[in-house]
Amino acid sequence: MSPELAAAELAREAGAAATPARPPAASAPSPAEPPVDDWDGFGFDTRQVHAGEYADLNTGLRVPPLALSAGYVFDDFDDQVDRFAGRSIDPIYSRQGNPTNGVAEARLASLEGGTVAVAVSSGQAAISSALFALAQHGDRIVSTASIYGGTRILFGRSFKRFGIEVDYVWDADDDAEWDRAIGPDTRAIYTETIPNPRNDVTDLRRIAAVAARHNLPLVVDNTVGTPALIRPFEHGASIVVHSTTKFLSGHGASIGGAVVDGGNFDWEAAERAGRSYPLITRAPRPGLGSMLDRFGSGAYARAVREAVVNDIGPSLAPFNGFLLHQGMETLSLRMERHVDSSLRIAAWLEEQPEVESVDYAGLPSHPLHGIARRDYSGRTGSVFGVTVRGGIDGARDFVNGLRVFSRMTGIGDTRSMIIHPLTSTHATFAGEINERLGITPGLLRLSVGLESADDLIRDLRAGLDRVR
Ligand SMILES: Cc1ncc(COP(=O)(O)O)c(C=O)c1O
Repeated sequence: MSPELAAAELAREAGAAATPARPPAASAPSPAEPPVDDWDGFGFDTRQVHAGEYADLNTGLRVPPLALSAGYVFDDFDDQVDRFAGRSIDPIYSRQGNPTNGVAEARLASLEGGTVAVAVSSGQAAISSALFALAQHGDRIVSTASIYGGTRILFGRSFKRFGIEVDYVWDADDDAEWDRAIGPDTRAIYTETIPNPRNDVTDLRRIAAVAARHNLPLVVDNTVGTPALIRPFEHGASIVVHSTTKFLSGHGASIGGAVVDGGNFDWEAAERAGRSYPLITRAPRPGLGSMLDRFGSGAYARAVREAVVNDIGPSLAPFNGFLLHQGMETLSLRMERHVDSSLRIAAWLEEQPEVESVDYAGLPSHPLHGIARRDYSGRTGSVFGVTVRGGIDGARDFVNGLRVFSRMTGIGDTRSMIIHPLTSTHATFAGEINERLGITPGLLRLSVGLESADDLIRDLRAGLDRVR
């Protein structure tokens, strides 16, 4: 297939994702209908409000509606045959996609600067779907060691059971360690932009150079960074994943996830170099081209949607998709407040006598501040660690003295939250792993919300007053 044809197919798939099953027009659409699907070239704040929206030609609804339908009607017998044969990419069933989720998908793809996004039911589903499209039984993934605890558990339990092993690199600056970890069966490199709880920001460009040298796609979890603070594709990533439960939805009301295709990875070159990505490069059945032939720069996303999500079934409920596209409308504004408050609170905490250390890379005292300034404009999100005096007893006294901060698991919400990683997110890891990760008895993870920063500081002071 020519690149033009592939691009046309892709545009159609992106359009179909955003606007499938558009309600039949009460009258013929006017030729003056605005190009509501195309927000390229507009600023981030404009795209977070408009990208992906579509006009409801029946009612003129301004907000893209919540579309609840498990399936789609075929035009006629042959249309059904074509859709099932893969000759038409019009949707068959909502497990593959839904118009409400399509708004969120197109919006997120636009904000991240990718080609196509696939919305799924959780962040864990996003990570699994993203990697299952790349690796199968007998293959390996190489990951940076400092990642979300739940991802480490997922890799060590379910991935292992399915025959996909994950190797960890502890010093991401050490090329020799990467080279030792990457072998002929490696299928992807995995990392996060701003790992929690240590806020140890990642030098994406450095890892992208390793990935390029080994012909591997770089998969980046940008949950804590969000495209408002950093866009991994601009730093060499090939695929971005999100727990949209967090800042993207923003209000702590719904679970969701997404996989975004950067459209920039050369799958054929990787295969020539000995890697293997059969879901993307091989024909799924005789007479039908590969995903790459048919979907060009959206081939990977199509493989995730058709060959993983549709098979395994972690589709996003449309109501959660609705909350997601609404949440994204205010992303940059919320992130600005989240980070302004975090910078102030982190600097304040550092001065308190009951505090041993603060892990916030936006602080000049942090060892990764140079990377924070270069790649994150010194604004490293709102999830970070604070270590109080007195080990676990100090942590207990501090947490029990808080009122505004909610004691709970979760990050990236309007509400401020706190948790003790050693006895929660990291409770199942061997002591040696926690030691290497810096998960100590006195460490607490804060997620700074949108309350008044003065109130949050007063709350933290009240907690610290309890620390003996
Ligand atoms: C960085 C990161 N990725 C993925 C996840 C998993 O997301 P979910 O809880 O939506 O499955 C989390 C959850 O905390 C996270 O912090």
